[in-house]
Amino acid sequence: MTKVLVTGGAGFIGSHVVDAYIEAGHQVVVVDNLETGSRNHVNPDARFYEVDILDSSLEAIVSKERPTLLNHHAAQASISRSVADPVHDARINILGSLHLLELAQKYGIPNFIFASSGGAVYGHQKWYPATEDHPQKPINAYGIAKLAVEKYLECYWVTHQIRSVSLRYGNVYGPRQNPHGEAGVVAIFVGALLQGRHPVIYGDGHQTRDFVHVRDVVRSNILALDLLLRGGDAFHGEPSTFNIGTGRETSVVEILNHLATIIGSSKEGQFEAPKEGEIRRSVLDIGRARKVLSWEPGVSLEEGLRETAAWFQAESVQLKK
Ligand SMILES: NC(=O)c1ccc[n+]([C@@H]2O[C@H](COP(=O)([O-])OP(=O)(O)OC[C@H]3O[C@@H](n4cnc5c(N)ncnc54)[C@H](O)[C@@H]3O)[C@@H](O)[C@H]2O)c1
Repeated sequence: MTKVLVTGGAGFIGSHVVDAYIEAGHQVVVVDNLETGSRNHVNPDARFYEVDILDSSLEAIVSKERPTLLNHHAAQASISRSVADPVHDARINILGSLHLLELAQKYGIPNFIFASSGGAVYGHQKWYPATEDHPQKPINAYGIAKLAVEKYLECYWVTHQIRSVSLRYGNVYGPRQNPHGEAGVVAIFVGALLQGRHPVIYGDGHQTRDFVHVRDVVRSNILALDLLLRGGDAFHGEPSTFNIGTGRETSVVEILNHLATIIGSSKEGQFEAPKEGEIRRSVLDIGRARKVLSWEPGVSLEEGLRETAAWFQAESVQLKK
């Protein structure tokens, strides 16, 4: 059994990672300030601390808990917010991460998993799908912060031998995603369609993303933990980055059409001006994760959207009771 501290463990992806780690027999500590996360999503078998990753009280928690691995999912996760307020974004996404890394080196925590972004670190892609060595030229503050943390992780390996894996997610969707947030087009569309509203599409809707189901993302976190703790032929301790997507490019309009069919809605998209800082096309090559992590996405887009819509439908029935 390994003790893992998951930041952002009350959020969409982090809470699923916590569930899976507990299921796998690990002891889990969650740190989350509930800025966008929910107490209801925190697994009852995890020890929960409602605290900001920037807060000095985090040190006493790390010192008391002494986890073997930090899994860092807490973040300001909205690209448009990062464009509107890059200082706020950097405070949480760069300084918050650095605070964790400093605590990791001070308390001898040797392993770190970081939730990075395959949709943001490459910027406008030069080739499709992007491999991990594709030029990294983020076009928004959020992407710059994710890339900066990956670079800090390389540095902390050299200076403090902290072993790390950065998982560059595509566009993650699935149960528990916030339908009222600024990010997460699947949840936002499902929320609008279920309430009989026209989903808002920013731009012409032909921008593409690599949509990956949260269950597949969770499995990459399990395999990354195994890689860090057990090593193996393909891993010698150096920081590693992995794209976690599907290699399939889907437009926002296609997503809306799929969901409208699944839900049985005739509501059409309401088009508005494109958001600042958005890229046009994003799709990830997942060959490295396949080879090194033995990871493979298992949930098809059709199945994943159907399941997600069903989950939100059940939730809304539950809320009305
Ligand atoms: N959802 C995606 O498509 C996607 C894609 C690429 C990367 N990511 C990354 O994955 C991670 C999780 O994203 P998500 O979609 O689950 O978002 P989310 O907003 O649901 O989760 C973030 C969690 O972090 C917590 N948090 C925010 N600021 C904090 C702070 N200062 N201190 C402590 N906790 C704080 C929030 O309360 C929330 O529970 C983020 O790092 C995000 O950047 C997400």
